[in-house]
Amino acid sequence: MTRRLPPSTTAYLEHRARIVVNPNDRPLSKRELIEQIRSCDGAITMLTDMIDDEVMGAAPRLKVIANYAAGYNNIDLIAARERAIVVTNTPDVLTDATADLTWALILGVRRRIGEADRLVRAGAWTGWAPTQLLGQQVSGSVLGIVGMGRIGRAVARRAAAFNMRVIYTSRHEPVDIDKAWRRMALDELLRSADVISLHVPLTADTRGLVGAKELATMKPSASLINTSRGAVVDEEALADALRRGVIASAGLDVYAQEPDIHPALLASEHALLLPHVGSATLETRERMGRLAVDNVLAVLAGEPAPTPVP
Ligand code: DGY
Repeated sequence: MTRRLPPSTTAYLEHRARIVVNPNDRPLSKRELIEQIRSCDGAITMLTDMIDDEVMGAAPRLKVIANYAAGYNNIDLIAARERAIVVTNTPDVLTDATADLTWALILGVRRRIGEADRLVRAGAWTGWAPTQLLGQQVSGSVLGIVGMGRIGRAVARRAAAFNMRVIYTSRHEPVDIDKAWRRMALDELLRSADVISLHVPLTADTRGLVGAKELATMKPSASLINTSRGAVVDEEALADALRRGVIASAGLDVYAQEPDIHPALLASEHALLLPHVGSATLETRERMGRLAVDNVLAVLAGEPAPTPVP
């Protein structure tokens, strides 16, 4: 385990295998990672671990890498395949937590919750005022979902409670789609939505998917929400768009170079910034841990992994 996980996960695994756990509550350096993984048959890795061919090459016994995340852009899948190492992730179990947090960002940016909190704490609130901190109506607005996988659909389902029209893009023929949701090209979605929420994996195709041109296509009153991977958005272009009023606001849980955040985003009153906590509920992290352990144990027992990456 490259990072300490909730105690229930460690206890669940401890009874079934001999485990080596990163003793520090921080990501391992590459050298430490190589040292720790060297004698392991299976590894439970975090999205902060870059598992490349060199790391895999240092672990001749390694048969399974169970990533403690739905995303797996931190793992070199080609190298793993060549070395016959099974790679697994933790889909499904974190869908609701991540969709809930996406809604926290949607409501937060549309109703200016971050600014409001800062105003109150600064002692600058002088009482109710008819024009203070006017935000945008969430109910009845248009939600654009980019990427209609499990999390995209869970976010879309919650929109019914706000009487929102849902439009979406999807590269694959999506499943479990509500008949009222409308599929369209990215360009049209960017032009039409009030809130645009990103739910695509980070791949060569989606890196920089939202840049200056896409931001300029959005309505000036629109908000961009990202709980997927930071590098899907060109942060420089986003910071510039917020500064110039090209779009109204952004709610971000993920960044291209975590934990570093673009200084202009940090400085922007129109950005609501969270520290990558999409799946951070106790129940969800426990379920992710159990699934990661089950993946490791299955592969080591010569059985199919419950959730191999596609
Ligand atoms: C994931 O699972 O990919 C999330 O980003 C972790 O919180």
